[in-house]
Amino acid sequence: MTDTTQQPEVNIGLVGHVDHGKTTLVQALSGSWTDQHSEEMKRGISIRLGYADATFRECPGVDAPDCYTVEEECPDGSKSEVLRTVSFVDAPGHETLMATMLSGAALMDGAVLVVSATENVPQAQTEEHLMALDIIGIENIVIAQNKIDLVDRDRAVENYGQIQEFVEGTVAEDAPIVPISAQQEINMDLLIDAIEREIPTPERDASVDPRMFVARSFDINRPGTTWDGLTGGVVGGSLVEGELEVDDDLELRPGREVEEGGQSEWRPIETTVRSLQAGGTQLERAGPGGLLGVGTGLDPSLTKGDALAGQVAGAPGTLPPTRESFVMSVDLLDRVVGAEEGNVEDISTGEPLMLTVGTATTVGAVTSARDGECEVNLKRPVCAESGAKIAINRRVGARWRLIGIGTLQ
Ligand code: GTP
Repeated sequence: MTDTTQQPEVNIGLVGHVDHGKTTLVQALSGSWTDQHSEEMKRGISIRLGYADATFRECPGVDAPDCYTVEEECPDGSKSEVLRTVSFVDAPGHETLMATMLSGAALMDGAVLVVSATENVPQAQTEEHLMALDIIGIENIVIAQNKIDLVDRDRAVENYGQIQEFVEGTVAEDAPIVPISAQQEINMDLLIDAIEREIPTPERDASVDPRMFVARSFDINRPGTTWDGLTGGVVGGSLVEGELEVDDDLELRPGREVEEGGQSEWRPIETTVRSLQAGGTQLERAGPGGLLGVGTGLDPSLTKGDALAGQVAGAPGTLPPTRESFVMSVDLLDRVVGAEEGNVEDISTGEPLMLTVGTATTVGAVTSARDGECEVNLKRPVCAESGAKIAINRRVGARWRLIGIGTLQ
């Protein structure tokens, strides 16, 4: 390892129903507030994927779980020792923002499912998010039974039983359920203990070509900055493999749409890495792991407002192809998740689908549907390898609902 020791090494999703306390929990563990957009502040919900890093620590000579903390100083005044730095991906719980949650799921190595003890189980997005983890294949899960400060013991026990019953037969069946209060910071040590055991840092290969999924992109310049003071556009996401170094050449796909002679075409964007930031520090080199900010030489107008979210970045010439259409094999769920009623009918030719591939979300029209397979024409192309998993959503009533998983042929 070079100077990457403080680099977050694992991405942990925070999922669950709206207002069950995901953002408050991230704050308790990391000291930072993920709701950074003013509109989010106003509406009080996490609109875009928020992310925040937390360093888990251990007080020497103290037994588990009491030893776990996020504080640098232990209760006895001694210094705590760093276990690892993790990135939290705070997925929005609001029902219309499922696509954002799914884009975040592409980055998650594990997840904490936050369930409020004050409501019956499951609430709509509790179920929907758990199903999404299930079909995307995120198996390392910890359940945080939150807001226990607001209920009495009997209600807490009853709610705990409801959670157990709800996860039976799902991917979270064996997940530990940890009663906490994110707001009062109760049982944070037990929660860290469970995360340390259940969500290990995955093995990643740093020796292959870098591959980054972009989840956010920004223009970090203040309004009114003159051209000579402008900082290049920033992309945020995770390196799933390989390393990036300052001054490396970088390609982003699908890139941008260019109009020429009445024709439009998507062309990859090429730039260089100007800076790397992870875990709150500037790095010369970053390895695969948690969330990473990459400063580029791009005109910030290209990266403003998440314009490059959903793109794939890596060394020029090494990225998967840009696809305007593709064939996928399809595995449908038995019933529409989160909806009141309804079995999942077969996909039919001509119907629109919302597809999440990696961190990209796009709408596609089905041009041909066969048994267990369909071909789609995308409104906005994606950069993806064959074998990539695709979350398939169908319009049911007023919104998109998760109906199955596809595999790119
Ligand atoms: P979205 O991002 O909108 O999906 O919501 P969220 O799940 O992030 O919920 P958030 O953290 O914004 O919490 C919702 C409300 O519940 C806020 O008013 C919090 O202060 C409150 N809250 C969260 N955790 C606790 C808790 O443990 N105890 C109590 N009493 N209140 C809590």
